[in-house]
Amino acid sequence: MFVIPDECKPYMEMQVVQYKDDPLAPWKMAIREAALYCEWLPRPGKLFTVLDFGSGLGRTTVMLRNLYRLPPWALFYLVDKSEISPKLTGGWRPDHDEWCNDLECTQRFVEANGLISYCLFRDVDDLGVMPSMDLIISTLAVGFHWPIEDYLFDPFARLCREGTVLIFGVRHGKYSAQTEFAGFETLGYAESGSKQDFLALRKV
Ligand SMILES: C[S@@+](CC[C@H](N)C(=O)[O-])C[C@H]1O[C@@H](n2cnc3c(N)ncnc32)[C@H](O)[C@@H]1O
Repeated sequence: MFVIPDECKPYMEMQVVQYKDDPLAPWKMAIREAALYCEWLPRPGKLFTVLDFGSGLGRTTVMLRNLYRLPPWALFYLVDKSEISPKLTGGWRPDHDEWCNDLECTQRFVEANGLISYCLFRDVDDLGVMPSMDLIISTLAVGFHWPIEDYLFDPFARLCREGTVLIFGVRHGKYSAQTEFAGFETLGYAESGSKQDFLALRKV
């Protein structure tokens, strides 16, 4: 289960709307998500640098760290904003102007859940200082609220080397198993039966 410090709760409500009705929803969802994407993860011995883009409080990072028992030296890079947009509509929003996070709360949440090796970033331009990634993951963010295409070739491609795996929790109906992107191999597509399916790519 996740430890959710009190000051993080309002952000969890905005990021995982089901949390309002069920305090265990963020954890249950993280387990269901992991069951859908786990087959595409690099083997633990090959997984040392992870980018969680649109991380929110860091739910997905904590799940990866705990469930897969990644070594303490695996380094997580979390990128999100540290502000709340005046109007949050949810849904598909290609103008990407809706954020709802506070990076101090992200820090509290990941540390309360045992993560020690991580870096927080607030701007897509900060990606320029990161090393190449073994895994890039985005749940309920890229592919769910905004098109993958807007991020894949720039900046994500700059953080990829041959073999980098990219996993997107995508909005049902926007992508499919036939989705292809130049320079990437499609590893698979998993339907969840709810709003968020998963699409996995590998850099070739
Ligand atoms: C629905 S929440 C999902 C959070 C987290 N990935 C999860 O699954 O719990 C979407 C997140 O994307 C963030 N976001 C929105 N626009 C962004 C942008 N341009 N760059 C980085 N993060 C952004 C929001 O602040 C929010 O935390």
